[in-house]
Amino acid sequence: MTELVRAELAGGITLKPAAMKDCRFLWQWRNDPEARKYFTNTEYVPYPEHKDWFEASLRNRDRHIFIVFQKNTRVGMVRFDVEPAARRANIHINISQGHRNQGLGREVLKKARRYAFDNLEIDSIIARIKKGNEASIKAFTYTGFKLVSDSPDWITMSLSLRDTLKGTEASA
Ligand SMILES: CC(C)(COP(=O)(O)OP(=O)(O)OC[C@H]1O[C@@H](n2cnc3c(N)ncnc32)[C@H](O)[C@@H]1OP(=O)(O)O)[C@@H](O)C(=O)NCCC(=O)NCCS
Repeated sequence: MTELVRAELAGGITLKPAAMKDCRFLWQWRNDPEARKYFTNTEYVPYPEHKDWFEASLRNRDRHIFIVFQKNTRVGMVRFDVEPAARRANIHINISQGHRNQGLGREVLKKARRYAFDNLEIDSIIARIKKGNEASIKAFTYTGFKLVSDSPDWITMSLSLRDTLKGTEASA
């Protein structure tokens, strides 16, 4: 797919804070077997369990869940779990099946990065990625994340506010 086609497909996305009406969409995406194999907990999650988790998440001031919209269609989610004392946030992204590999992951991460550094009072964003998840590694690398640690099954990538600002200056 050419860069032009990807840019066209990934255009016009918005991130909206998740609300209760998004609960079932998030549940479906969370249980997609293709996505699940890259999660820490790879098990199927029954709806009542997911609903409890989501309700608690909406009350949790350190958790920020966004729904990705392309025009009026929900195409995925991105989540930040903030560790205020460490001034960092852990990021999690899931683009829904049928919308992957169209450049959306990269665009979502760019928007999410801006939101996080502008609003969350953090100095870095951390992504923990299962080995073999090439699309994820590429999307985070594209967004400026750098490898910080490597274990047999997982890698950790990080993006610092300082590096992001440097990147912005360089491209200005
Ligand atoms: C990982 C994920 C967010 C990437 O988003 P995406 O919209 O599919 O990816 P993009 O279209 O933005 O492509 C990003 C890069 O990955 C590459 N890519 C996409 N799908 C790929 C695949 N299946 N295998 C290898 N590379 C792939 C693209 O070519 C692109 O590479 P480039 O920057 O070198 O051109 C998405 O696939 C997803 O949600 N997967 C399931 C859940 C998941 O793994 N979440 C991440 C947990 S850390």
